[in-house]
Amino acid sequence: MVASEATPWAKTGGLADVVAALPTALGSLGHRVTTILPKYRGVRADVGVRLERGVRVGPTEYTVGCETVDLSPRRRAVFIDYPPYFDRDGIYGVGGRDYADSAQRYALLATAALDVAAADLASWPADVIHAHDWQGGLAPALLALTPGRWPALLQSARVFTIHNLAYQGLFPRDVVPAVGLPWRAFDIAGGEFWGQFSYLKAGINYADRITTVSPRYAEEILTPAFGVGMEGVLQARRHRFQGILNGIDTAVWDPQTDPHLPAHFGPGDLAGKRVCKRALLERVGLPVGDDALERPLIGLVSRLVAQKGLDLVEGAATALMALDAAWVFVGSGEPRFEGFLKRLAAAHPSRVAAVIGFDESLAHLVEAGSDMFLMPSHFEPCGLNQMYSLRYGTVPIVRAVGGLDDTIQPYTARAVKANGFKFHDATPDALARTVRQAVRLYRDKERWHPLIEQGMAEDHSWARSAREYVKVYRRARLDAAARSGLTS
Ligand code: ADP
Ligand code: GLC
Repeated sequence: MVASEATPWAKTGGLADVVAALPTALGSLGHRVTTILPKYRGVRADVGVRLERGVRVGPTEYTVGCETVDLSPRRRAVFIDYPPYFDRDGIYGVGGRDYADSAQRYALLATAALDVAAADLASWPADVIHAHDWQGGLAPALLALTPGRWPALLQSARVFTIHNLAYQGLFPRDVVPAVGLPWRAFDIAGGEFWGQFSYLKAGINYADRITTVSPRYAEEILTPAFGVGMEGVLQARRHRFQGILNGIDTAVWDPQTDPHLPAHFGPGDLAGKRVCKRALLERVGLPVGDDALERPLIGLVSRLVAQKGLDLVEGAATALMALDAAWVFVGSGEPRFEGFLKRLAAAHPSRVAAVIGFDESLAHLVEAGSDMFLMPSHFEPCGLNQMYSLRYGTVPIVRAVGGLDDTIQPYTARAVKANGFKFHDATPDALARTVRQAVRLYRDKERWHPLIEQGMAEDHSWARSAREYVKVYRRARLDAAARSGLTS
């Protein structure tokens, strides 16, 4: 697997959790996985074995360190160490701006990954090269267009997973020779996208199989409303494309053992959840009296970007603040959303807390200590937080898009297996109405408890989805065999 993030080494969002948990789940099914990622600042891989390697990207020769860490007999991570590119303050950039040399940074990652895969083939056969998001997109493209560089990988199947179609890795056309691709890559059926070169589009077009992270999002992105201009590209490959719902790592996200929590709880025993609620209120500086413990607490943990629907929260703020509820917001991202949350907290200091920053431990406590969790996304390829919420007895309130639509069954008076609340229109009104409905129902414990119990009883572990990936790998292997049979 080639990716730009993996928990616990580097994380800005859900990609990191998936790239960590899927290999473990594949391992349980008997497969062996190498995860190749950059050695960013703060990644301490010095316990691993280090090898210096020359890597050629277009006309440029790099000397990089490849540091291998064995995580289990079936799983290892290889960190690509090139300090000028990766030993920096941020993962993708600083102050909300991407680094200007992103194209080179991830071309180096993809190329080094293929070099490692080819070199280690005897001990770690690479039946499948699985690249994630635009940062991995050049791996399938390089394999398809310059196969002579890696003859050992001719039979390797190429799988590409889209975690978010909105990040397209778009660069000026000059990157094509600079990253070692032939000009025929700059084609409408290749990586060319409106005069630029897209690593994402290249990943889509040069993979044997393409997946995305929920069935609903897979349908949505075939349409102009969600396709971000790539809908035609995906339609052309739709017979090779499918959605597989992400799972969650049930060892890392387990309210019965979570080391970030002051008390533990589980299905049928929610006493510890109240302790977590009190601890959360205390930690974010909200009142902790009996009133506060009775009042519903609504959490949100998110990258603060347009995708996540903070504009809807802003539009609905007056209506939401009129409800008898308290709020904890945790996130970082665009200044306009950070500013809005800070102002909201300043205006309602006894009922709203805004913690700006990335805080893994607090994210766990918000899941445990909140009564409800809000995800009003404009689009959501999968979303992991709603599944963490279900497991932590926290009722999700979501917009009916992507993986949120696939995982949340809305409450109605007669619904069976309801586990949350869901609204359709991307309007402040629809959001406010749904939150109001949830806050009302919260008082009606006989109706509220079944929602919690349903969520906690559900199985969102990786087991099923990992088997789906294996099926995709097998199909991709057949594609690869047919392909190499044709070319040999
Ligand atoms: P996305 O990948 O689009 O950000 P997901 O719901 O798939 O959305 O995953 C987000 C992950 O990132 C979750 O594990 C969430 O807890 C975490 N996360 C997001 N923002 C923060 C933050 N400010 N502090 C801690 N964790 C965060
Ligand atoms: C992306 C998506 C998110 C998804 C995550 C992991 O960051 O925005 O919805 O859960 O990737 O696949």
